[in-house]
Amino acid sequence: MEIQSYLHAITSNIYGNTTSLFVVLTVIIVLAHVVPYLADPAGLRAYPGPILAKVSKFWLAWVAYHGHINTSVHNAHEKYGTFVRISPVEVSILHPEALQQIYGHTSGTTKSDMYGAFAQFGGTLSVFTTRDFVEHTRKRKIKAHIMSLKSVVEFEPIMHSHQRILVKKWDRMCEAGAKGKGGEEGSCVWQPGNGRAWFDCMQCDLAFGSPFGMLDAVRDTTQIATSQMAAVESYGVEGAKLEYVTISAVEAINTASGFAVFLGVLPPWVRPIVSCFFTAKIKSRDNLGSMVATAVAKRLVSSVSRQDLLSKLLEGRDEEDRPMGRQELSAESLCLLGAGSDTTASSTGAITYFLAQNPTVQAKLQETLDQVLGPPGGDSDNGDAAPYNKIKNIEYLQDVINEGLRLHSPVGMGLPRVVPASGMTILGKAFAPGTVVSCPTYALHRLPSVWGADAEVFDPDRWSQGDRTTMLKAFAPFSTGPR
Ligand code: HEM
Ligand SMILES: *[C@@H]1O[C@H](CO)[C@@H](O)[C@H](O)[C@H]1NC(C)=O
Repeated sequence: MEIQSYLHAITSNIYGNTTSLFVVLTVIIVLAHVVPYLADPAGLRAYPGPILAKVSKFWLAWVAYHGHINTSVHNAHEKYGTFVRISPVEVSILHPEALQQIYGHTSGTTKSDMYGAFAQFGGTLSVFTTRDFVEHTRKRKIKAHIMSLKSVVEFEPIMHSHQRILVKKWDRMCEAGAKGKGGEEGSCVWQPGNGRAWFDCMQCDLAFGSPFGMLDAVRDTTQIATSQMAAVESYGVEGAKLEYVTISAVEAINTASGFAVFLGVLPPWVRPIVSCFFTAKIKSRDNLGSMVATAVAKRLVSSVSRQDLLSKLLEGRDEEDRPMGRQELSAESLCLLGAGSDTTASSTGAITYFLAQNPTVQAKLQETLDQVLGPPGGDSDNGDAAPYNKIKNIEYLQDVINEGLRLHSPVGMGLPRVVPASGMTILGKAFAPGTVVSCPTYALHRLPSVWGADAEVFDPDRWSQGDRTTMLKAFAPFSTGPR
């Protein structure tokens, strides 16, 4: 009996303490949200928005986690108008003029702290993640030569060779399908039906194969070093002993950027805490870094020379003619892979989808291309490849691509920018220094005043029949300005 009542005393004590701790914590959390809202140091209270978004970053984090920033912010603008407060510190502004004012060369804004969440290799910054104007200019100088048209055209043979592998694989599947045969190769499975082969493009059309060998293997797997740091340290070391593991490359790429946006909209001090609950996502993100470091390490000891993004990066020099250090080289390689592969895959995937859904557009595009490239098998036939210099001025092709990028922008969220110390005026409204502003690309590409009532319809002809200048002002799949 004695022991029991003793135990009871202890438990109720702990219980009582826990309860009061809980109450105190709740009060602190509520005050931490309500006090800044009421004090309103940035003068944002006049802007409408979802109640939760006005008092907490949790709203934006929640929609980011579910991949709905595009549609949720669009819906909020339909409900509240041009200006919407999407977080305690951020106002989303839906207007073509806001685009230039926020992102243009003379805007004076900087990237928000969201971008820090994309950094790996111990927080090493890249041309994409850096927020510093001077560092960005320096990095741009090192990387600019890669992005020049001359350089990109030099990659054409590599692109064509990958394209041929892809088309050959697809041809084989279609031939089998025509004979009523299904089958599988690697992780790609196809079924016959109506004299065709039916398959999931996303499984079978991987946007980048080399140096990961996925296209040849028809499988989304690649070998990576188990330790990012060990891989970085092995750069240039002949016969370095590294431990490897096989992972899904596309999964790593897809998870990493989405998860970085989710973490990035949270305050920096909350990120390490939240990360503890998402170990699988953190693992995918680290895998992407390892994948990049493994590829760089392999290249540095390889005797085979090839012209690609990586070789161009290795050639990069700053003003004092110095190459990049290991960490920076890793960060910049990650940046190219992260910024270049998922975007290209999702836009080509979307355009292919829209063409399949719109047989009239597909037939018109086919006819246009046949006229320029000649009939298949004819004298002017370049095989499966369409050389850039032959197709660069085909207006209808450009209209199809633009229309696909409009409806399915790989980057649909409004990119967050910080108002400079001098403050700024957007559409006649003054914003205090430190306020975050953005223009939501997904919603901009559907603005009825620009695109009309049929904004949701895939119609490449709108580009030649409508007011192109006005449309281009409200079209920003690649953003605008120095970034
Ligand atoms: C359809 C394809 C693509 C789309 C829609 C796209 C879109 C974008 C957008 C919207 C930004 C601005 C990001 C921001 O300010 O937060 C950006 C930045 C960037 N993109 Fe792309 N991109 C594409 C392809 C590529 C490719 C193929 C590469 C390189 C291989 C690339 C490299 C970069 C880099 C390095 C930046 C950072 C630029 C800076 O901050 O100075 N992108 N891209
Ligand atoms: C919105 O973005 C997500 C990825 O973040 C994408 O999966 C989805 O298709 C987009 N929604 C629309 C309607 O384009």
